Amino acid sequence: MARVLDGTAIAAEIKAEVRAEVDRLALQGIRPGLAAVLVGHVPASEIYVRSKVKTCEALGLFSELITPPETVTTEEMLALVHELNARQDIDGILIQLPLPAQVQAKLLLEAVSPDKDVDGFHPVSVGRLQTGQPGLVPCTAAGIIEILKRSQLPIAGQNAVVVGRSDIVGKPTAILLLAENATVTVCHSRTRDLPSFTRRADILVVAIGKPALVTADMVKPGVTILDAGINRVTDRAEFDRYFAGDARREELFLQKGSTIVGDVHPNAFALAGAYTPVPGGIGPLTIAMLMANTVRAAKLRRGLPV
Ligand code: GUN
Repeated sequence: MARVLDGTAIAAEIKAEVRAEVDRLALQGIRPGLAAVLVGHVPASEIYVRSKVKTCEALGLFSELITPPETVTTEEMLALVHELNARQDIDGILIQLPLPAQVQAKLLLEAVSPDKDVDGFHPVSVGRLQTGQPGLVPCTAAGIIEILKRSQLPIAGQNAVVVGRSDIVGKPTAILLLAENATVTVCHSRTRDLPSFTRRADILVVAIGKPALVTADMVKPGVTILDAGINRVTDRAEFDRYFAGDARREELFLQKGSTIVGDVHPNAFALAGAYTPVPGGIGPLTIAMLMANTVRAAKLRRGLPV
């Protein structure tokens, strides 16, 4: 039986540590603060950002949700970011992506002070990560490493294959695995003969945004699979292709009219040594690491040891 890596439990452990650190900082009169900027009405973004703000409240961090209208201009967003950069009560700035087409996202992300860049998207943060300097690391990538470490799964010397090369997940995860001395291969949509790479993986990270792309025939038995995919399934035939015979999943699907599948087919999980389920795997870590990053930013900005 494959070992299920319970992201919800690991995230709870990290959040408890963050809570304890927030309490310690409170004794010094410090309350880490997060500004979350949510533009327009993308349903998934609304759910994520509200969950981020709620978690801040639960852990004792200050948070502010800022919701510019869908029609906001790049200039207005830049002015907002400059204001947040200057505010003493804000340690972390999160601009939820995607942004409307008229907003120049790249300009905006570069305007965020690297000291408050809790998403780790600023080129300075990327450079620090690449060169092994202390800084702020993208939350999902940091969460993937936390899952491996807290589950006592070895990284050094392992063949790690990352499927997906996004700036948000794939690239930073590959850099972190390399820093932990894994032998890292990055595959992507233009990779020829993907299975020949995934079959060599001891650690397989999949973050490419394609439902159930990685199937049983593409993995080595015993592999550790980290599935960062979040794909909504509403079609019955598609549901059956992934989850036929899973009575519990079917009951929920019939109740809600949808379910979530990762980028890995459940038949590959059956062969794994360990894997992160979807939902309840990597997802919960992303928010926990955002909280940890906000506290880290609060300490780094004040010159406190991290
Ligand atoms: N959109 C999807 N994932 C993320 C994330 O980690 N951070 C932000 N800011 N936007 C996202």
